[in-house]
Formats: sequence, C-alpha cells, structure tokens
Amino acid sequence: MSVIDEHGAAAAQAAAATVRARLNIMRAPKAAIILGSGLGDLAARIENASSISYAEIPGFHATNVAGHRGELIHGTLGGREVLALAGRFHMYEGHGARTAAYPVRVLHALGARVLFLSNAAGGISRAFAPGDLMIIEDHLNLMFRNPLFGAVESGDDRFPDMSNPWSPRLIALLNESAKQTGVPLQTGVYSGLLGPNYETPAEVRMLATLGADAVGMSTVPEAIVAGALKMELAGISLITNAAAGISDAPLSHADVVEAGARAAGRFATLVTEFISRL
Ligand code: HPA
Repeated sequence: MSVIDEHGAAAAQAAAATVRARLNIMRAPKAAIILGSGLGDLAARIENASSISYAEIPGFHATNVAGHRGELIHGTLGGREVLALAGRFHMYEGHGARTAAYPVRVLHALGARVLFLSNAAGGISRAFAPGDLMIIEDHLNLMFRNPLFGAVESGDDRFPDMSNPWSPRLIALLNESAKQTGVPLQTGVYSGLLGPNYETPAEVRMLATLGADAVGMSTVPEAIVAGALKMELAGISLITNAAAGISDAPLSHADVVEAGARAAGRFATLVTEFISRL
C-alpha cells in the first residue's frame, strides 16, 4: 500500500467503524458540521452528546491551533442527529491536501450526506464588517494543491463537476434560517490560501480583482472532497477582521479567536435553526 492511501476511502471506512463502535452510532446522521476557529462553542449546544478525541480516530492528528479542540461529537442539534468536528487539519500545519480533507471522507463513511463547513476569514468586500457571517456561495482554490491528486478513491468522481459546489437548496435554507432567527447574513465568494501568514495589501487587492469577498486558510480541500463524493454542501465564514489593507489594523490570531467568541451565540442560533430545517 502506498503512502497516499493513509487518508483515502479505505482508511476512512476503517476510521468510521472505530467511531461508530465507540459512540454507538446506529444510523446515518442528518448532517455533519465542521467547526472553524473560535466557532467550537456550537458543540455545547449538541444534546445527548458523546465524543471521541482525534487521538483515538485512525488517520486523525492532534490539532495544535488555539481555538480548535480536536474532538468528534455525536448528538442532536435542532432535533436532528448530527456529527460535529471541533477542529480541523490545516495545510499550513504541514498537512497535505488529502489529510486536510480526510475528515470529510470519514464523515461520509459515517453516512453523512449533508456537510456544513465553517471558518474564520478576513473580509475583502467593503460591504463586510468584523463579526459578519457570510454564506459561502462559491470558492476560489488558491492553495495550488488538490486533495484528489493521485489515484481515484473508490466512490470519487475522477473529474468532479464543480459548477454548483455550494448547494443552492442549502443556501436557500440558510437564508430562511436568517429570516426566522433575525441573524443577518452576507453572501460571498471564499478564497482559500495556504497561509500561514496573513496576506499583504497587494495580495488582498489581487484577491478582490479575482472576485473574492473573503479570505482564509482552510475549507477548500474539504469542499473539493465533498464535491467528489457528491455530498450536499453549505458553509458560513465568520468575518473576524478586515483583510490586510482594507483597514490599517494589524492582524492577529488572538483577535480572530476573540471575534469568534463574540459571534458564537449568533452563529450557534443560526446553525441550529438551519439544521432543524433539514
Ligand atoms: N486572512 C486569512 N485568513 C484569515 C484571516 C485573514 O485576514 N482572518 C481569519 N482568517
């Protein structure tokens, strides 16, 4: 077996069997959720929760980024059975794209067919303010890596269609949830960069020219694997800061985590309503 199989479909099946046995999961969940930097608080809203730490899931790694917990949680949210990952693998930590997207394969192997991704991002659109929540309507892969590179995994499309990666049905549900809860939402295009440095002002001007409304360092590998597996995909970016050059303020990870904490309640209310509508 070559090294590339470590985070492929077969490994994901084995990891799913471990998780299922440990958490006594009997059915496919209604949805799976990946919680971004500082957004892990949503996990506290999951009822009848049981969890397994990443250290115990084959193929998973410890997460070392502040604001990321490193647990897979099973329980109910908004009356629906869900799986949630508090913590993700970033390529800037040295992981390959396949590793960054591997948790999506495990969630799929556990039966999830709806995937909700969240992240912290810098705001490029001048219509955005820190604290805004943005529906991801499309993305730009500017990581110049691809999690599907290499042999085709069983269940994957070789050449996945990406003309509608972010589900219009789920975007409509998010907008309905925003109306119902009174949590305002923006909509825009997420650009994923490798990181770990924040962008220069010139890079942010380039991203704006390319059509990006927000910039971050995650999510894109996960979205690509979700596309290859034909999962229904939705996502929200928490705009934690104005991207470099949009405002004069220097950027820091502490500010990103703090902005997450301030938005956590609104985010959790919105996502709970969204999940209840599935
Ligand atoms: N750039 C990239 N990633 C980010 C940012 C940013 O400004 N804010 C939060 N994550």
